[in-house]
Amino acid sequence: MRSTTMRTTLALLVAAQYAEAADAIFPRAESGDGYLSIPVGTIQRPHKVGKRSAIDAVLENMDFFYAIEIGLGTPPQNVTVLVDTGSSELWVNPDCSSAPSQQQEQQCRTLGQYNPRRSRTPPVGPFGREEINYGDPSDSSTQTSVDITYYADVLSFGRTQVKNQTFGVVTSSEGQSQGIMGLAPDVRRGFPGDEPYSLLLNTMADQGVISSRVFSLDLRHASSQTGAIIYGGLDRSKFIGSLEARPIVPGIQGETRLAVNLTTLGLTLDQPQSFKLGSADTNVMLDSGTSLTRMHSAAALPILEALGAQDDGEGYFYVPCSTRNAAGSVDFGFGSKTVRVAFSDFILSAGDSSGDSSGDGSGDDDNSLCYVGLVLTTDQQILGDTVLRAGYFVFDWDNQQVHIAQAADCGSSDIVAVSNGTDAVPNVQGNCNANAATATGTGGPTATRATSNNGPTGTTTTVFTVTSCPVFDIGCKTGVVTTQTIGQAEATASPSPSATGTGGGSGSGGGDEDGGVRPQALTWVFVVLATLALVINIA
Ligand SMILES: *[C@@H]1O[C@H](CO)[C@@H](O)[C@H](O)[C@H]1NC(C)=O
Ligand SMILES: *[C@@H]1O[C@H](CO)[C@@H](O)[C@H](O)[C@H]1NC(C)=O
Ligand SMILES: *[C@@H]1O[C@H](CO)[C@@H](O)[C@H](O)[C@H]1NC(C)=O
Ligand SMILES: *[C@@H]1O[C@H](CO)[C@@H](O)[C@H](O)[C@H]1NC(C)=O
Repeated sequence: MRSTTMRTTLALLVAAQYAEAADAIFPRAESGDGYLSIPVGTIQRPHKVGKRSAIDAVLENMDFFYAIEIGLGTPPQNVTVLVDTGSSELWVNPDCSSAPSQQQEQQCRTLGQYNPRRSRTPPVGPFGREEINYGDPSDSSTQTSVDITYYADVLSFGRTQVKNQTFGVVTSSEGQSQGIMGLAPDVRRGFPGDEPYSLLLNTMADQGVISSRVFSLDLRHASSQTGAIIYGGLDRSKFIGSLEARPIVPGIQGETRLAVNLTTLGLTLDQPQSFKLGSADTNVMLDSGTSLTRMHSAAALPILEALGAQDDGEGYFYVPCSTRNAAGSVDFGFGSKTVRVAFSDFILSAGDSSGDSSGDGSGDDDNSLCYVGLVLTTDQQILGDTVLRAGYFVFDWDNQQVHIAQAADCGSSDIVAVSNGTDAVPNVQGNCNANAATATGTGGPTATRATSNNGPTGTTTTVFTVTSCPVFDIGCKTGVVTTQTIGQAEATASPSPSATGTGGGSGSGGGDEDGGVRPQALTWVFVVLATLALVINIA
């Protein structure tokens, strides 16, 4: 921790708990013959201060985003950007003063800015402009926007340079506190990748940095420092078994997305159970820019019921932390491949104030409150970070396929470069065996809950007591007690006919009292829990 830069030091003040991770977040990008491996780090997203419930505190402290460092211009100006498979463009310089909270504003200022006047390349620009909107269209509280103008300049990843890459520089933005590197093709123009300008993956292939337009995504767990994006390659030391090739399918409006059809959905506790998946509920976008997984109620309810989850009345679902520590998984099937998401990854731990990164969840006591990393949407379903970090994904734009395996970590990299053609992604086995699939959680305040049933309408009043706070959480006070009223009668209420009209699926869950579902307008908390799926308005 001695040689931290000024920037890192500031970040540490904001996220002291993550000091160790932040310090080592960005080892240099590595290039080999035909590939470029860029380390992906996790950055804690500091939360909003002011009026909030203890539940909000728990959730907010779960939140972090996956980021990489890039160099823009000559000499390189280092900027940290969020890695987003839910959008296509690279842009930098958000208006930090419009960040969702003061802490995020401070953090925003530590992530670096690009000043074209300080680049001697020289850059081309500014030219053109664009407004980009992000969020879940069925949930206005998730929506953010940026206005950008374009520049073309050198992009550096370690020693590797991509010349004359077009990217956005913000002229104004709302609710964003970091730049974004989109990894998806253009939502309207699709896989050609050179319209409205050559997107980064396309340029890399054009300039021979990589042989074909392929990248692998290995997000790993919050406490791990080994995640990576590998352009033009895949790392056999980061998955188990074979890679299953699945066709990339359009999003639910027919637009181009990095989406696939889910084949099965299940849960393993004592034994595997499989749930019925209606045809309207199979399309899932793979979106690293979205923290939580968002599914239709018909698909989500059986999982929530099997977990015994309770609705907190604000659109989130919680379970006793003992469930998180149980040796179970939520199972997402893609063709013949099943990616098992350990409960310890799928359920967000409250941890303890020193951050429970031991990997066994031992910081949770069984009275603690833990949140399920799954919420409801009536729009596009999204497998967010809570699911993606359990998988290894190789995205092949040229063949419009994604190759999927169970992620693991079994030692130092064993990178295979991907060539070109229809079988570009080699049919290689991962080096890891099943025992290597580890899961760890993130730290945050610990809250305990006492529940009582009272009142004529059958409501449940839940009293939350925050028993410990993470160091960085300036606004968090121990002993704060908040009550939440959960209206069980609302379990069947849904404002959206399209969400309930698909029927099926939710039949035989065990708990009578759980699974209260309210797909209603959610609070500002979601602004913090980013959903960086590009919003499209197909004209
Ligand atoms: C940018 O990052 C690189 C390596 O990550 C480092 O060598 C360089 O000094 C940094 N530049 C600035 C201006 O901080
Ligand atoms: C660099 O990119 C700009 C914007 O796309 C383009 O107008 C220009 O011709 C490019 N320059 C070179 C040398 O390729
Ligand atoms: C994906 O699912 C949709 C809806 O069930 C179906 O129409 C489509 O053919 C499927 N596509 C692939 C490639 O499996
Ligand atoms: C693959 O790349 C080689 C060398 O650049 C090129 O000659 C060949 O035509 C490419 N093959 C395909 C199928 O794109």
